[in-house]
Amino acid sequence: MTIDVRIAPSILAADFARLGDEVADVAPAVPMIHVDVMDGHYVPNITLGPPVVRSLRAATDRLLDCHLMITDPGVYAPQLLELGAESVTFHPEVEDDPGGLVDRLHELGGQVGVAIKPAHDLALVEELLDRVDMLLVMTVEPGFGGQSFRTDCVPKVAQAAAWREANGASFRIQVDGGIGPETIEAAAEAGADTFVAGSSIFNAADRVAAARALQQRAESVRARTGAGTS
Ligand code: DX5
Ligand code: ZN
Repeated sequence: MTIDVRIAPSILAADFARLGDEVADVAPAVPMIHVDVMDGHYVPNITLGPPVVRSLRAATDRLLDCHLMITDPGVYAPQLLELGAESVTFHPEVEDDPGGLVDRLHELGGQVGVAIKPAHDLALVEELLDRVDMLLVMTVEPGFGGQSFRTDCVPKVAQAAAWREANGASFRIQVDGGIGPETIEAAAEAGADTFVAGSSIFNAADRVAAARALQQRAESVRARTGAGTS
């Protein structure tokens, strides 16, 4: 099994009035764009929803990786897939039957992830791990960009990587929140392969260089540790 390193710029840190240009600016360096959908209920912030994903789909050929910080993923995740998002990740504690939702989203042809907040243990999602494409380990409290990376969340990445190895699973491990040149290596060392970065890319003078530097740092850690291959 080989899982490649992916850097996913989060448009939460972009200028929403110029979203198409902002995405075009980072696209040469990355395979995917991270789209934070917030509803003002699951988190105390509101961002964007299906109409913006529709416009993004028309504006870029990069994979759209939607992170749903909302209380009704069963309603909106199917819409986002129908609009052309490749992947949807939801926080499973809001669903009565999260496994059923994973299956339903797979039937629609999407990649499906589940997310855990800093307060949640891996146990919350363990029974879903054999059927998801990605586990998102939040490394900040969801809701806002620009927060500091929480090192106390890193052991969950290692735990998830160990679970994957022990169970012959192949889901990606994504980290989200406070990822930048000073923090990406700790996450990569623990076994993360997919790195969301908002501020550290969009606030950089040269965003392509910033994204490529993150990619290189993560790849060199993974080459050294042997992570990503088994
Ligand atoms: C936070 C979002 C993140 C956020 C990360 O709730 O899920 O995707 O954009 O932003 P930075 O990289 O600035 O911490
Ligand atoms: Zn996110």
